[in-house]
Amino acid sequence: MADKKARLTVDGLDESIELPVYSGTLGPDVIDVRPLTGKGLFTYDPGFVSTAACDSSITFIDGGKGVLLHGGYPIDELAEKSDYMEVCYLLLNGELPTAEQKDLFVNTVKNHTMLHEQLNHFYNGFRRDAHPMAIMCGVVGALSSFYHDSLDINNEHHREVCAYRLIAKMPTIAAMCFKYSCGQPFMYPRNDLSYAGNFLHMMFGTPCEEYQVNPVLEKAMDRIFVLHADHEQNASTSTVRLAGSSGANPFACIASGIAALWGPAHGGANEAVLNMLEEIGDESRIDEFVAKAKDPNDPFRLMGFGHRVYRNFDPRARVMKKSCDEVLAELGLENDPLLKIAKRLEQIAIEDEYFAERKLYPNVDFYSGIILKAIGIPTNMFTVIFALSRTIGWISHWSEFHSSPNKIGRPRQLYTGPTQRKYPG
Ligand code: ACO
Repeated sequence: MADKKARLTVDGLDESIELPVYSGTLGPDVIDVRPLTGKGLFTYDPGFVSTAACDSSITFIDGGKGVLLHGGYPIDELAEKSDYMEVCYLLLNGELPTAEQKDLFVNTVKNHTMLHEQLNHFYNGFRRDAHPMAIMCGVVGALSSFYHDSLDINNEHHREVCAYRLIAKMPTIAAMCFKYSCGQPFMYPRNDLSYAGNFLHMMFGTPCEEYQVNPVLEKAMDRIFVLHADHEQNASTSTVRLAGSSGANPFACIASGIAALWGPAHGGANEAVLNMLEEIGDESRIDEFVAKAKDPNDPFRLMGFGHRVYRNFDPRARVMKKSCDEVLAELGLENDPLLKIAKRLEQIAIEDEYFAERKLYPNVDFYSGIILKAIGIPTNMFTVIFALSRTIGWISHWSEFHSSPNKIGRPRQLYTGPTQRKYPG
């Protein structure tokens, strides 16, 4: 129910238009613009800067204050006190699990960690030098041709099974993308390990010797998963919701989210950060790159800085920075040349007036890229790991969309092309 109203007057219309205004539990009020269509008007908001496209109770962000809550819990507390499995449960169910619920959840996920054996052969169809995001996009889309038994989107149990399958299989798919690229045999999942530990095992283990999981790296990996788990209606999540609104199956929808995440303005930024650090190459060239980033006539931007929503320090970046320091100390990498460039760049950008004025702070991808590089994960796998972590956010939003009455998403446009004209001849 609308507790407030807005009135819009438009030149050429005799009467003003009354629009309901709704309040959420947190965040700005929203004006319901749907009555405008009946008056022959649309709203115009390229980039969805001012548009709330749905109701959602999963995640809240206050970009100005640097707040991120999942189910009401601040992200830094979740990163400190919970693990990824608990955060997955929270995003899917709205509450943190009890110890018993967590055991059941973790065990159910573990029942689904293997891929259908036939899917392993799909990888052979890709070039060895293919970008792992290209492989992941294809393999996740292909899941819909293997798991027909749970594709009824109107069946709550089917939706739940799909969620379990996706959470469980993404690490397996991601690690197989890596193993395929370096020509090593695929490693089957080990269900005696934690979610993060198993991922590291599938990435770095070989059949020749048992892989020992380093607890510091395991914790850092788990934190990366937690910090990327969800971020309300970002480009990839909105893509998943939009694809889902047509009734497409969840595996196809998640594949669309992976495609949207790939770009450097979104999930591809962590890979772009490392590429940029390599391009800078030496601390003596940092000033040159900072000057390029500040030049309005140069399209270059400092990758890993700035965020559409956060105009303050990204709360995830704070936790990631702490994790980054722990990992570098554990691996004795404090003096790695690339990482030294990163630290120096961070300092300059934080102190520089240009960045301060525009409220451009290092974002989560800046630090996650450094951690992943230190762990030994190749740069082109960074966005794959983001996709793996974000799958829980995507599937939670997809499930939320389908659990209440919904409509196909269909944005309109401001047409600027030719008016109707005569066909030549
Ligand atoms: N380096 C230099 N200048 C920047 C940067 C940057 N990284 N980001 C923004 N600016 C400048 C813009 O040039 C603009 O300056 P102006 O006002 O003088 O014209 C001003 O800051 C505002 O920038 P916008 O483009 O309006 O900000 P927007 O919200 O559209 O963009 C984005 C956000 C895409 C994240 C941008 O900051 C960027 O490209 N950053 C680098 C890529 C990156 O790290 N992306 C990861 C995002 S986090 C994630 O997806 C998990």
